[in-house]
Amino acid sequence: MGDVGISDVAARAGVSVGTVSNYFNRPEILATKTAERVRDAIVELGYVRNFAARDLRLGRARSIGLLVLDISNPFFTEFVEGVERVANDAGLAVILGNTKENAAKEASYLELFQEQRVAGVILSPIGDVSAQLAALHRQGTPTVLIDDAPDLENTCSVAVDDASGGALAVTHLLRTGRRRILILDGPARIHQARARIEGALHAARAAGVTVELVTVSAFTSEAAHEAVAELLARGAPSFDGIFAANDIMALGAIRALHENSIAIPGQVAVIGYDDISYASAVSPALSSIRQPSDLMGARATELLLDELNSPDEHHHERVIFPPELQHRQTT
Ligand code: RIB
Repeated sequence: MGDVGISDVAARAGVSVGTVSNYFNRPEILATKTAERVRDAIVELGYVRNFAARDLRLGRARSIGLLVLDISNPFFTEFVEGVERVANDAGLAVILGNTKENAAKEASYLELFQEQRVAGVILSPIGDVSAQLAALHRQGTPTVLIDDAPDLENTCSVAVDDASGGALAVTHLLRTGRRRILILDGPARIHQARARIEGALHAARAAGVTVELVTVSAFTSEAAHEAVAELLARGAPSFDGIFAANDIMALGAIRALHENSIAIPGQVAVIGYDDISYASAVSPALSSIRQPSDLMGARATELLLDELNSPDEHHHERVIFPPELQHRQTT
């Protein structure tokens, strides 16, 4: 049997094509009996609406593109959930791209989104995306940036005040009596992490405490584990507190401390950043600076939808959430 069309449904239900169309688009005007006949015909024939044809007519897909830096980091998984919830409620699907912090991969995803005429794009940028964002805007495709806003003229953005967040983490370590602080940073290309490290350094210097800054090869648990294991291989820890640029790095640092039988927080306190759901699930539970990832995803999508639905009234916004300390067992 070939593809079932709307006319087949109409014939089976004994109604006009217009009535079947009303069943989908203005169901309130159909008599209950008619609506039931149409529904039965749809089920019997296995009819599925073809949105591709409608998208072609409207020149826009019923999907949005979402680019994250690393989907294996629960911060981004939780962010995606917020995006998906709001997008799905608006009848839009989400096409996810995992750039793995790779600018070339990011560029080719943006090209694909443009070709596919997605309704909008949300991204956590890694490379210089200004030309591609400008091309999307010319095409009438709104964008929202996560954590960055190089081009405030044409786009909304959602972020956390990372400099304050970094300062909050170090101030917390200081309040718990720590005076020799190890800061674990990742590669400098991640703008938002750089801001949180600058905030942390500023707070530490203002308090006159010793800081050791170690830049590890990636924002991953493995990279942080390796870096801390290497430091500990040299002898007793020269630090009594660790601030890691994100939670998964903090978890890697904790593993290295455990392997060297160093008491947490007795000998070394540890605080991370993000407050991923695993932070409270591990033992000892990880202290962290909370970024409301799910809420950030939801807000980013609301801003995108607002621009999509009311382009003339829409005003670009830079939404900044305050960071929040989550004090748990590792400090
Ligand atoms: O990808 C690195 C970090 O940037 C994440 O852990 C999250 O903090 C994001 O802001």
